[in-house]
Amino acid sequence: MEKVIEAKSISKSFSGVKVIQDLSFFIRSGEIVGLLGPNGSGKTTTVRLLNGVITADAGHIRVVGLNPFTEGDTLRRRCGVLTESAGLYRELSGEENLLFFAQLYGIKNAVRRVKELLSDFQLTEHKDKKVSIYSTGMLKRLGIARALLHKPQILYLDEPTTGLDPEGARDLLEYIKNLNQKYNVTILLCTHLLKQVQTLCHRFIFIHKGQLLEEGTLQELEDKYLRELSLKVETDLSFHGQSFESYPILKKEPGAVVFRVQNKEAIPLLLRKILKKGPLYSAEICGRDLETLYFKVREAHKHE
Ligand SMILES: Nc1ncnc2c1ncn2[C@@H]1O[C@H](COP(=O)(O)OP(=O)(O)OP(=O)(O)O)[C@@H](O)[C@H]1O
Ligand SMILES: [Mg+2]
Repeated sequence: MEKVIEAKSISKSFSGVKVIQDLSFFIRSGEIVGLLGPNGSGKTTTVRLLNGVITADAGHIRVVGLNPFTEGDTLRRRCGVLTESAGLYRELSGEENLLFFAQLYGIKNAVRRVKELLSDFQLTEHKDKKVSIYSTGMLKRLGIARALLHKPQILYLDEPTTGLDPEGARDLLEYIKNLNQKYNVTILLCTHLLKQVQTLCHRFIFIHKGQLLEEGTLQELEDKYLRELSLKVETDLSFHGQSFESYPILKKEPGAVVFRVQNKEAIPLLLRKILKKGPLYSAEICGRDLETLYFKVREAHKHE
């Protein structure tokens, strides 16, 4: 698939401090990519570089073939961005904010588009309130509505769910997925909420201190970093000793046992052996979630 975002060896310093160092990555058309890293690792700075708000000191960035810094105005007509501050006018109402930006972007049928977005983000009943009295969740939803006004082809979402309640976060993630599936919007999402984005993103880019740590799909990360598997088996059987039929037992819990297995291929055989002895209610591979993988990646690179 076509690469719509390409960053090659980019670096950026603020007052002599390097915050992005020799960072390279790409994003293909139609992907949802999670840009993940701890506080201060350079996620927001990366988005600002991609959107041409600031310029890199070195390296090369192309977004839909354009240079974000020298062709920023053309580029920003095709990109939407939700920043941490959202950039809304507090003294205007929600609706006035959207209408103002719609006008600024030269959007046709602005009134209809604004109405549609207010409804999509459950803001219709709050449209006349001043933004200064909006709740965190309402502000976030209005910020995203603003980013979507001009139906961008690429969307940068910087911490989109921070401050949202579980229901709000779930609805928003569902909306993002839908945008991607229905309209093929390419999405770069910065977050530390790994659990939320594990199933949403097609691929992940891990950064640390402005450098690329690792990138890949969940499956690729699993193949690379999960050398041995832990399998949690729910059963009434009691196991004695440190192993069962040469499978090491890592942990015994009430009603469950955790085994170490060399690879996935070893699992059916183990399960058959257990079933011969008694009931087995469920079996689950532990530690293949994004958060565990993230810590394994961090651990593997900690001396770099
Ligand atoms: N305009 C600026 N001037 C000086 N330093 C800056 C500026 N913008 C960012 N930084 C510094 O660059 C580093 C990376 O910041 P950035 O905001 O990109 O991190 P982040 O990964 O988005 O963090 P968070 O998860 O907290 O949002 C930080 O050390 C920050 O203090
Ligand atoms: Mg940030």
